[in-house]
Amino acid sequence: MKNGIVMLGAPGAGKGTQAAVLVEKYQIPHISSGDMFRAIRKSDSELGRRVAAIMDSGALVPDDVTIQIVKDRLSKPDCQAGFILDGFPRTRPQALALDEMLKEIGQAITIVPYLHVRSELLVERLSNRWTCNTCGSVYSLKPNDAKVCQKPGCSGTLFRRPDDEPATVAERVKVFEKNTAPLISYYAERGLLKQLDGEQAVANVTASLLAAIAAAA
Ligand code: AP5
Ligand code: MG
Ligand code: ZN
Repeated sequence: MKNGIVMLGAPGAGKGTQAAVLVEKYQIPHISSGDMFRAIRKSDSELGRRVAAIMDSGALVPDDVTIQIVKDRLSKPDCQAGFILDGFPRTRPQALALDEMLKEIGQAITIVPYLHVRSELLVERLSNRWTCNTCGSVYSLKPNDAKVCQKPGCSGTLFRRPDDEPATVAERVKVFEKNTAPLISYYAERGLLKQLDGEQAVANVTASLLAAIAAAA
């Protein structure tokens, strides 16, 4: 049984953290639109500058640009074994486009886990988030903790995402509630949604997630 997993959740809900576990377990690609845009913004190009300005404001990149980038990635052969989408779709037009592109490549969504976390916890989580500049591992750290990657064999330095400043997080949460929250009912109506308590400890969220995926298969 192939897994077509769409991780849904507010900024800081734990989508990337859980996707990293699923990648290890199922050996299928982790397709994070946010990671793809962070790679694009590093490029010295008109699109890179446009994407950087949009991300730092907390707004969404336009649907046409986003849909094209995800479509190109999903059509790669490694996605035939399944996929984990993280951060896409985020609007109704993106959800409709995803249904179309999956039909074209003979794939389907098997489950949409929705990690529910109250918005007041999100600013704190994102203020403490640090990411390894070498391997991409994500940590939750206190101010005095060492900012060095703990992954065996990696001693990369850690950085904070520019869009994790509290004012930008507040805007991102607003954008989630307005544009992305309607997808909760979109997928519930299709029998694909599985709401999980994203406020449990990471390992407990993982256990609930794996049980939900097994039940959907
Ligand atoms: P994106 O990178 O997708 O960001 P996001 O959706 O806002 O989500 P985050 O990555 O901030 O949170 P997460 O849920 O992955 O949490 P994480 O696991 O890291 O998008 C960034 C920007 O790109 C957008 O604002 C937009 O501009 C653009 N973009 C991207 N996709 C787009 C699209 N489809 N359309 C248009 N524009 C798009 O966890 C967060 C922290 O909490 C970590 O420190 C972690 O260690 C900790 N943590 C995780 N789980 C737990 C737990 N259970 N308990 C305690 N702490 C936890
Ligand atoms: Mg993420
Ligand atoms: Zn690292």
